[in-house]
Amino acid sequence: MEEFYEFVLEGLDLRNKVILDAAVGAGESTYFWAKRVHEQGGSSKIISVDNDLPQVWKDRIKTKLGEYSKYVELKEADIFNLSFLKDGSIDIVNCDDTIVFLNPKPLKLLLALKEFERVLKSGGHLIITSEIPVESYDNPDNEGQWRRWNLAKAIYNLKGEIWSSEPLPDEVKFALQLIGFRVYAERIFPESKNFKYQECMNEWKTMMLKDVEELPWNTYLKDALRKEIEETYSKVMKDGYLMNPALYVLKCKKEK
Ligand SMILES: C[S@@+](CC[C@H](N)C(=O)[O-])C[C@H]1O[C@@H](n2cnc3c(N)ncnc32)[C@H](O)[C@@H]1O
Repeated sequence: MEEFYEFVLEGLDLRNKVILDAAVGAGESTYFWAKRVHEQGGSSKIISVDNDLPQVWKDRIKTKLGEYSKYVELKEADIFNLSFLKDGSIDIVNCDDTIVFLNPKPLKLLLALKEFERVLKSGGHLIITSEIPVESYDNPDNEGQWRRWNLAKAIYNLKGEIWSSEPLPDEVKFALQLIGFRVYAERIFPESKNFKYQECMNEWKTMMLKDVEELPWNTYLKDALRKEIEETYSKVMKDGYLMNPALYVLKCKKEK
């Protein structure tokens, strides 16, 4: 992960800047940005938003940030409507591992990218990182992740919702160009085995079982889904790892 954030942050002057981190999630990316702000003299401010940011998560993120917390403002906000920020008020937007949730249907992601463009100063940077989905389970290494992710997507579809929809790098680059960004650096980080998977799988199973419980479908379908959840969970536990999908980074600038 160090190498990944090294590329994300490479070449960026983080002195006297206002940075928007969209979205903060568990605070992983905010941590690396705040650390770099500190290393460059501590003169910048990071506004880290998320549309799901209860106090308990704010407290956890603050604990994780430790001494770097002083550079970070945590705020509950929707990326599609950042009206608390004026036009051209932000120097850098970081959008790490989030566009898959901003793309529930064709063209929706454009609205989020347009909102980033609105709040950015002319010449401001937008850094997007995202994942390339595991396309098939032909490779046994990929099967656990493929099953976990696609089962989650299917359960969300049965609720009439979208869990995640992964735009590919060329599609995002095309959208960025349409909106007025120029991509100046990009890199793909290959998929890798993750051996710290237990906590993530426990959380996944709890969430999925809760979602199935609330589905408006018959008990036969719900029982079959519960069985698949248990089997997918057991498979990953038995494999002893979970595949991290390949990641891409697009670094771009607002042209005007
Ligand atoms: C995978 S997490 C981001 C990870 C984070 N960058 C980190 O490093 O820990 C994705 C986050 O996007 C948030 N999110 C999804 N849609 C959003 C929206 N429309 N506005 C704001 N946050 C959103 C979710 O609540 C979730 O916390």
